[in-house]
Amino acid sequence: MPPVQIAEGIHWVGAVDWNIRFFHGPAYSTHRGTTYNAYLIIDEKIALVDTVFRPFTKELIANISALVDPGKIEDIVVNHIEPDHSGALPEIIKLCPDAKIYCTQKAKEGLIKHYGLECDFQVVKTGDELNLGKRSIKFLEAPMLHWPDSMFSYIEKEQLLMPNDAFGQHLASSFLFDDQVDEHEVMDEAAKYYANILYPFSPLVLKKLEEVQKLGLKIKIIAPSHGIIWRKNPEKIIQAYLKWAKGEADNKAVIVYDTMWESTEKMAKAILNGIVAEGAEAKLYKLSVTDRNDIIKEVLNCKAIVVGSSTINNDILPVMAPFLDDLKGLKPKNKIGAAFGSFGWGGGAVKTIEEKLSSAGVNLIMEGLQVRWVPTEEEISRCYEYGRQIGQKIKEHK
Ligand code: FEO
Repeated sequence: MPPVQIAEGIHWVGAVDWNIRFFHGPAYSTHRGTTYNAYLIIDEKIALVDTVFRPFTKELIANISALVDPGKIEDIVVNHIEPDHSGALPEIIKLCPDAKIYCTQKAKEGLIKHYGLECDFQVVKTGDELNLGKRSIKFLEAPMLHWPDSMFSYIEKEQLLMPNDAFGQHLASSFLFDDQVDEHEVMDEAAKYYANILYPFSPLVLKKLEEVQKLGLKIKIIAPSHGIIWRKNPEKIIQAYLKWAKGEADNKAVIVYDTMWESTEKMAKAILNGIVAEGAEAKLYKLSVTDRNDIIKEVLNCKAIVVGSSTINNDILPVMAPFLDDLKGLKPKNKIGAAFGSFGWGGGAVKTIEEKLSSAGVNLIMEGLQVRWVPTEEEISRCYEYGRQIGQKIKEHK
């Protein structure tokens, strides 16, 4: 895609990756592709903010070249060293070998380790500024949002925040702005991004948003490093981040299960009916036929996580493990939960689920529910009542 002006003198020069379907190796499904956003600022000096994933280097160079001679770039800002943003840097620096690289100390260390770069590194801290002529770029360190090296860049003149991964979405689009695309699609991908990448850092997200407020940074445009640029309503994504970081959620349960011979599935559906009877919403996901990252996105906006598995070899079905292990790493905030499942002789799945939910910080509100072999009508009624009790707890949970 050719360059797009996002404000006078500031241009998107990144790349659209329509075909990527997994990100972070196999860890994150990207059904809608992604973009690698880089920004060129043409002032008295010329600066590039971030680059792109290495396979898209030619596109970045073509976009820059359509506007200026890349050799005239004097300053390169590296907000984050992950290869999807720094991969093209070694080639770019060959075109402007005297350019200074502005980044955090951790980023400098990371760039040297990743690429063996020997450049004119200018290590910056929060409050430092790079003057380009008519405007300056102000830097704001943002460690662990989501890597130790991360930082935000801000331009007061345009009230433009470039926060790299924060506020981003894995969404390929021929349009670049929030007023040009389907709002539901953008928020859906923003939620998936937050849940699968930023969730464990929620306390830091809250602190950073407070810091931005205290610094009095006025924000008219948020230009992240992935997906759509927020110019119509940047407050929408800021408020969503506040909600997610605080662990606020809807009166909703996500029921995640898998089943050998449909007994656990019968339990899951009866529990769902009980939850719904109490006026709470419930969504049912069979893990073996559902994308794990999509379920984690749903977890973001639910109060209760209810997990069920048949027992095999005194433990959970193997398909359950990646989801439960992901939860442990992501540390979902302020969730209640419960476990259920059928077994033939010894049992064991419910115990494992409870242990794994607890280690993910989920507050278990009910004793696990187990049924031997196929649930009888009476046992289905117990599952329904179990669901009703979960529904009541959901409504009480703040
Ligand atoms: Fe988009 Fe942390 O890289």
